[in-house]
Amino acid sequence: MPSTALTATAAFQALTTHHREALSWHMRDLFATQQDRFERLSVSAAGLLLDYSKNRINDTTLELLLALARERGVEPQRDAMFAGDKINFTEHRAVLHTALRAPRDLRLEVDGQHIAADVHAVLDRIASFVERVRDGNWVGRTGKPITDIVNIGIGGSHLGPQMASTALRSFSHPRLNMHFVSNVDGHDLDAALAKVDPETTLFIVASKTFTTQETMMNAQSARNWFLQHATEADLPRHFVAVSTNSEGVRAFGIDTDNMFPFWDWVGGRYSVWSSIGLSVALAIGAKNFGELLAGAHAMDEHFLHAPLATNMPVILALIGIWNRNFFNSESLSIAPYHHDLRFFPAYLQQLEMESNGKRITRDGSPIKVATCPFIWGDVGTNGQHAFFQLLHQGADITPIDFIAVLKPGHNLPGHHAVLLANCFAQSEAFMRGKQAEEVRADLSKEGMSQQELEALLPHKTFNGNRPSNTIVMEALTPASLGALIALYEHKTFVQGVIWGINSFDQWGVELGKVLAKTIQSELSGTSVPERHDASTNALIALAKQALG
Ligand code: F6P
Repeated sequence: MPSTALTATAAFQALTTHHREALSWHMRDLFATQQDRFERLSVSAAGLLLDYSKNRINDTTLELLLALARERGVEPQRDAMFAGDKINFTEHRAVLHTALRAPRDLRLEVDGQHIAADVHAVLDRIASFVERVRDGNWVGRTGKPITDIVNIGIGGSHLGPQMASTALRSFSHPRLNMHFVSNVDGHDLDAALAKVDPETTLFIVASKTFTTQETMMNAQSARNWFLQHATEADLPRHFVAVSTNSEGVRAFGIDTDNMFPFWDWVGGRYSVWSSIGLSVALAIGAKNFGELLAGAHAMDEHFLHAPLATNMPVILALIGIWNRNFFNSESLSIAPYHHDLRFFPAYLQQLEMESNGKRITRDGSPIKVATCPFIWGDVGTNGQHAFFQLLHQGADITPIDFIAVLKPGHNLPGHHAVLLANCFAQSEAFMRGKQAEEVRADLSKEGMSQQELEALLPHKTFNGNRPSNTIVMEALTPASLGALIALYEHKTFVQGVIWGINSFDQWGVELGKVLAKTIQSELSGTSVPERHDASTNALIALAKQALG
């Protein structure tokens, strides 16, 4: 593990010098002078293509970025992660989400645990449960097949299941309606309960720790609602749990026979591959869930074995470092051009921001450069009519990851070509922009007066030179989705290694949790709290008055 500060490395310093030169480039010129730019600056792996040619890079940039990856020890740290070393050192944990999608014959033992045997034993249990629900043999208390699945979880126990089930909608069982409840705001659960029938609903309480306030409260309220229509004896047919905490599951009143376990070496935001993905497996079936895992495994194999220069997650990560640390881009916009991927930006928010939203390096010292950018976005073409204006002409330069799917999952004629045309047109426009001469020529053709033309010119001119990546897949399938998620997981890992931070803990979310408990007890007490600042005291007083 490198002990040198990132900014003191030879590669970082060389990149700093090189960046001064890069500031004068325009991508239009780079494309004009390099006919094979797409061939040189794109890579394929695990059914995905990454086109990273629309970035402000040349061959030297890439060489220097790859040197940075080597100097920071990306390869040995990657190998350590796959080997089960306890790289999450603040929690003394291995990081083995890759083992969740490895084949049965993986030979890996951690703390005396034969990882693949345990993983596949749980996958087999999931498969048999899933098939019973899907073929109607697992019935509700009145003998009717299950029609609705309500996944109750938050963070990684919600975002992955919701995103993947939605993305794979066209593979879903026609009888099963999926619902996802995460927010402690009762409106969330209330809306879901209004849509389901207690006779035919299966609740999945999904929580790694089984202590998360929001999930426990929602699960308790769902249980109370269910018991208004049924008896305690009916609970096992309608409530199952997914957790690492069997004690907590038992204490909540769910039989551990109805619990699907996983392990502390699976981080919440990396857990969709574990039994946290139970709702996904119910929706798409065990075989397709296996395909999702296989797609991710194919990306794992690529990440593990491809040379750095053609390693897709490494390249995606390095382009991100170039934009973040040298061009100072504060955010990264994710633009999936597929409606079923609409939860993907939110999924990546947790994956990247909870992993790399850190400012302390592994040796405990503050980092001297920026780390994870803000991740945000929305599906195309919707975003084009909302926030793309800022992306085109705003004062900040925001890199974009476009995600394009070549074949649609529907039969509506015409739509998909229009969708793809928009996707490709946007990345072209961000790269090329529209120069003053082009605008002038257009306006002259319209017969505009010279004075009016000159006044309009700066408003209609686009500088372009705005970076983007385009990730292309043939179709949105379980396998391609698995590869896509794994691509971003490994990208996140590589960036964490470059920044020298621990990507696998999340101490930052704890403070808010602790303070919420204090205020919660004050809200239910009788005295006006005085230990807070004036603003917080006043807000608490307002809430107390309203809640009575
Ligand atoms: O508060 C953050 C967090 O710990 C996430 O990392 C996690 O995915 C989420 O809460 C939910 O945790 P759990 O699955 O234990 O309920």
